[in-house]
Amino acid sequence: MRPLYWMRWMSVQGAPRLALKAYARRGDPLAQLFGDPATTHDPYPLLESIRARGRLVGGPFARMTVEHDLCRSILRDNAMGVRAAESFDIPRPLRGLTTLAPLPPNPMEPPSMLVIDPPEHTRMRRSVSAAFTPRAIGRLHARVESVTEELLDALPANGSADLVADFAAQVPIAIISEMLGFPHSAKDRFLGWGDAISPLLDIGIPWPSYRSAVAAIAEMDAYADEHLAKLRRSPGEDILSSLITAGELDDNDLKATASLLMGAGFETTVNLIGNAIVQLLDHPDQLAKLREDPELWPNAVEEVLRFDAPVQNTGRVALREVEYEGIRMPKGTTIVLSLAGANRDPKVFAAPDRFDITRDNAKDHLTFSSGIHACLGASLARMEAVHALRALFDRFPDLQLDGLPQRRPLFTLHGYSHMRANLGRRHAEHTTPV
Ligand code: HEM
Repeated sequence: MRPLYWMRWMSVQGAPRLALKAYARRGDPLAQLFGDPATTHDPYPLLESIRARGRLVGGPFARMTVEHDLCRSILRDNAMGVRAAESFDIPRPLRGLTTLAPLPPNPMEPPSMLVIDPPEHTRMRRSVSAAFTPRAIGRLHARVESVTEELLDALPANGSADLVADFAAQVPIAIISEMLGFPHSAKDRFLGWGDAISPLLDIGIPWPSYRSAVAAIAEMDAYADEHLAKLRRSPGEDILSSLITAGELDDNDLKATASLLMGAGFETTVNLIGNAIVQLLDHPDQLAKLREDPELWPNAVEEVLRFDAPVQNTGRVALREVEYEGIRMPKGTTIVLSLAGANRDPKVFAAPDRFDITRDNAKDHLTFSSGIHACLGASLARMEAVHALRALFDRFPDLQLDGLPQRRPLFTLHGYSHMRANLGRRHAEHTTPV
């Protein structure tokens, strides 16, 4: 089995990896964005150099834009679609290799709604959207609050913690697990699988990472089979039980949806909470404003989403010939959309490199994408982040980082893997919801 997966890796990741490295050495900015580990720490100077080159720049595999209006138009254009990142511009003979070593249902391949176009996309998204409306998410406030308080209570009495592992990752995984009916005991396994699978959102990942992702997908699939069988025997109040009862999705659809919701539900929000902690501690004047006026918390979360986007890029593929910026592009052309670059577009955001929690158009960021694939979990992510951050800074008013936080070595997902902190003095009282 392993040689087939190696060949599959070679065709979809290994060959692009070699090309990316070569182009990155020649100074190609698009290749550097996915091929140079330094950009995982601070991608913004590179994004500005791409902006300086033009509105729609060409690269070895794809075109790319960092312009806000162009990203938004492309995301909302029904001539542009999505398909599994793995099939981007792979030469035809190599593409055949992917069918020799198929993967079980997973977030990055059809029928996951993230990578399918209408009409299938419409059907898959409609099946779960009721669970994510602002009103439905509003009903989870109290639960998010109590999970947050329990986690803060459990932080070590000696005042030193890893704020990613002990807090930022724990809030979203607890909530999405409950929403999908997964037992609390599976949390650590999901964290491990999420870590292993997330690199698949990037281009040109190394073989050991690909091998770990494939192993994690297989394990998760076996676990999902057991879980779905259990819910069929005794359905609960969760999203998967209602999908089973509704009977519209087959097993593959159910597993792709479960793995997408699970992964998207925590792999992104952990980064939002972590990035926010770092920005707020780096900008004590902004934190002071929040202490004075807690009503500013929701806008502060929008500004973090804009300023240091937890998801940096997405892509679209031309479903037919299209024309942008006077450039005609044939069907199949891939355009990489830098959401993080769009969020720093000076034509939309005044002084875009300034972190300002009172910015009145912070919410115009594209971090949750736009158009038919716009993030289904945006209300949930916002609510979790506002609660978690406000409660953390209320409970530990003297919180300080202990050394430099470590970035995750990923290009698309952008956040921290470790963040040691001294918690300092502890306030006992609970936070009033915003
Ligand atoms: C800060 C947190 C989050 C960020 C930055 C984020 C970002 C995104 C982005 C950029 C997309 C669209 C990608 C594209 O257009 O190609 C997306 C889609 C999606 N997100 Fe989120 N997300 C977050 C949290 C969540 C949460 C908590 C959930 C809930 C389970 C979730 C579920 C989804 C789903 C299901 C899709 C696919 C929608 C579709 O294809 O129609 N996300 N997200």
